[in-house]
Amino acid sequence: MKIVNWAIIGTGRIAHTFAESLHGTEGARLYAVGSRTLSKAQAFADEFGFEKAYGSYDELVRDSRIDVVYIATPMSSHYKDTMLCLDNGLNVLCEKSAALSLSELDEMLAKAADKGLFFMEAMWMKCRPVYLKALDWVRTGRIGTPQFLKADFNNLVKYDRSDRLFAPECGGGALLDLSVYPLTFALDFLGAQPENITTYAHIGKDGVDLSNTILLKYETAYADISAGFEVPAINRAVISGDKGSIVFADWFFCCCEVSLYDSETNLVEKSEIPNEVNGYEYEIREVHRCLEHGLIESSLVPHSSTRAVMKIMDECRTRWGMKFPGEN
Ligand SMILES: NC(=O)c1ccc[n+]([C@@H]2O[C@H](COP(=O)([O-])OP(=O)(O)OC[C@H]3O[C@@H](n4cnc5c(N)ncnc54)[C@H](OP(=O)(O)O)[C@@H]3O)[C@@H](O)[C@H]2O)c1
Repeated sequence: MKIVNWAIIGTGRIAHTFAESLHGTEGARLYAVGSRTLSKAQAFADEFGFEKAYGSYDELVRDSRIDVVYIATPMSSHYKDTMLCLDNGLNVLCEKSAALSLSELDEMLAKAADKGLFFMEAMWMKCRPVYLKALDWVRTGRIGTPQFLKADFNNLVKYDRSDRLFAPECGGGALLDLSVYPLTFALDFLGAQPENITTYAHIGKDGVDLSNTILLKYETAYADISAGFEVPAINRAVISGDKGSIVFADWFFCCCEVSLYDSETNLVEKSEIPNEVNGYEYEIREVHRCLEHGLIESSLVPHSSTRAVMKIMDECRTRWGMKFPGEN
């Protein structure tokens, strides 16, 4: 197996978790880390054993030994960080949500295509074995025709204006941070083009959505989604069809257990697949697979899926009267 030289941009919370996963994944070399502050980059490199530490993202992208950059910065930076990497000939795995809007995302995808470089949103849920198992159950008709889907991602986060989650200038808010998971989930199981959207959001005093609810109506099915920072909740997900149901355990997007029930709610099959490292290894392996085969797009996290979700998020923000990047 070819060794892949990984670089990370941004040294915050998820960068630490991802570095742990890189450390435990075969074929990944912890090669370079870039921070806006050299001392932070150096401390991160020392903690995880990266070979290079750069005190700016601009410096990092000039290192031609890098095979792929993992962008772990706030949503508001994904566009410029991705463009910086692509312009310097580097492949990209970009954290969710990949952009602030569909128009930003489309420019990023066009640039990647133009340069012939790999780009994938780090939608790790779509690479996880129990997720793929559930998709397979649906594809093979185990629950019949899916008709109803419920997925939530609510958790209680103390309001802190300095945290990117609550900062409009960082692309904060529940929609881009949390709803992206249940929306991706709904579109995967029910289809990429709902015919109608109904939505409500609780917008906080600083202008980001603190909680939201989204109903997606399809011709013969609907999805009921909620996400937010205001209540602790059990975040299971359910997909029901005329022949049975599939239930994802709590924290559905990263759980290790999914169950199949018949139409009388009898348990038919349960799939339990523990993480091998910390859960991010599956998306790392998918990036390795794509790079090894010279692919510029992942079949597990295709650009069309990232676009379809972003389109719905644009629509929700329009309905809520929220501003888009560049709007005053
Ligand atoms: N996949 C997952 O499970 C998961 C979980 C959490 C978050 N995420 C995603 O990962 C991204 C980062 O989230 P996080 O929770 O790790 O954020 P965070 O803790 O705030 O870290 C973000 C890092 O980005 C860099 N940065 C660049 N510009 C910045 C700015 N204007 N303000 C603040 N930081 C800036 C900073 O690193 P330097 O100072 O070193 O440059 C900072 O440490 C988000 O897109 C989020 O949605 C994904």
